[in-house]
Amino acid sequence: MDNALLDIGLPAVLIGFACLALMVRKELGPFAGLSVAGRWLLTGLFGMGFVAFGIKMAVAFAFQRLPEQTIAPLLDRAVASRQDVEAEASFRNPAPARQAHYVWQALPEQAPEPADNPGNAAKVALGKRLFNEKKLSGDGTLSCASCHDLYAHAGADLRPTALGIERQTGPRNTPTVWNAAYMSRLFWDGRAATLEEQAMGPILNPIEMGLSTPAEAERRLRLDASYRNDFARAFGDRQPISFVRVAQAIAAYERTLITPDAPYDRFVRGDATALTSAQLRGMALFESTGCVLCHRGPNFSDAGLVGGESAFRIFPANATPYEKQYDLLLDGKRGTWRIASLRNVALTGPWLHNGSVDKLEEVVRIMASAQLGRSGKLNAWLNDDRQLGKADRSPLGDKDVADIVAFLEALSSEQLTHARKAKP
Ligand code: HEC
Ligand code: HEC
Repeated sequence: MDNALLDIGLPAVLIGFACLALMVRKELGPFAGLSVAGRWLLTGLFGMGFVAFGIKMAVAFAFQRLPEQTIAPLLDRAVASRQDVEAEASFRNPAPARQAHYVWQALPEQAPEPADNPGNAAKVALGKRLFNEKKLSGDGTLSCASCHDLYAHAGADLRPTALGIERQTGPRNTPTVWNAAYMSRLFWDGRAATLEEQAMGPILNPIEMGLSTPAEAERRLRLDASYRNDFARAFGDRQPISFVRVAQAIAAYERTLITPDAPYDRFVRGDATALTSAQLRGMALFESTGCVLCHRGPNFSDAGLVGGESAFRIFPANATPYEKQYDLLLDGKRGTWRIASLRNVALTGPWLHNGSVDKLEEVVRIMASAQLGRSGKLNAWLNDDRQLGKADRSPLGDKDVADIVAFLEALSSEQLTHARKAKP
């Protein structure tokens, strides 16, 4: 390579310079009547290009001769700075890290707990006692477990809407307490953010447990020496029993009410035989129909503490005949609701916030139509390029609905399913 430079470059410069000198001496010189010095000066002026080219060649030649180590760091630095520029550019305009396919997750074996209320065995045992304590209701007839029957009714009550003290019916369906520990928002409208905050609600709610004041709860429990001991063991001191600690103990107990034992979890953890073929078809449809847009993550709700991003959605989002049929509008308006978890959903009917639907097939049809536009009427974006066109907006067929329901049944805890079958 360095030879090629010299072999071609040097003769080229010399020949070019010689031609120029000849031209000045034979033609331009005599024509302009120049002296010998004048001729060389003119040759030099016209030959500037050759001189510059000669200098460049000399520099290039010198570089080639330098030892490898001298020049390598210079080249590296040039490459590195180019990478910096590229890295910075991608930082300013990050490519979305979305996966083409939905990633299915099993329920974590342990529910997350807040730093200010760590669980321990004594606290959990106290919480369990309080969960079943009828003294916490105004007339002493109801405990949390009266409406949230853990085993016979999978943590709910199987009624359309709850039955409170003095046989008053409330406006909302009772959700299960199982896996509530994985939710970032509680209640159908998501108005409580933590189990601690939630637990104070029903005790004081006049149509649920109907206790007059927090002080009344404290007074009743402080009278009982065994409660004074249980609270001391749970919280490690002998401070007087407080309403806040009642809620903390109940919350710690609820964090143990979790069901990572559904066939779905076994399947995701690697047991390929855990789901039936109908359930597998339903699982694929659950993704392809778009249910995972909202019912996502290990607790099948975007209001999940693990991986949840956006807890609320408008429901019903699209106008359909179902909203009249099941009275789904809230004071005539489309309400904003927390996305319900679908774990154990096959065991906790009737369904929806007002408990108005008692067939799971029907809930799936309502969801597909009201939340995903599968009502045969709508146009939709065909693709990400925002082209308007007719996508498949036909209502789900009976077979598809049955398969999705089969999949929802695979979200039922095996322990709870057996407990319910064993019931007389
Ligand atoms: C009279 C029946 C009744 C009683 C008693 C009752 N609850 Fe509830 N529970 C409900 C209803 C109804 C809701 C939903 C209310 C709403 O969303 O507005 C609910 C909601 C909840 C939730 C939220 C679940 C979720 O997914 O958002 C938890 C947790 C809960 N209750 C725990 C308790 C605890 C703890 C007690 C006792 C201190 C208790 N409940 C007593 C009927 C009851
Ligand atoms: C746009 C968000 C969204 C989509 C998509 C969606 N859902 Fe829902 N889903 C919700 C909301 C919000 C609720 C709570 C409704 C309420 O408050 O009454 C809910 C409730 C449910 C319930 C009732 C839970 C209960 O305990 O009563 C079931 C079952 C359900 N969805 C299944 C599905 C299925 C199956 C699909 C796919 C065909 C689907 N959902 C698609 C948002 C959605």
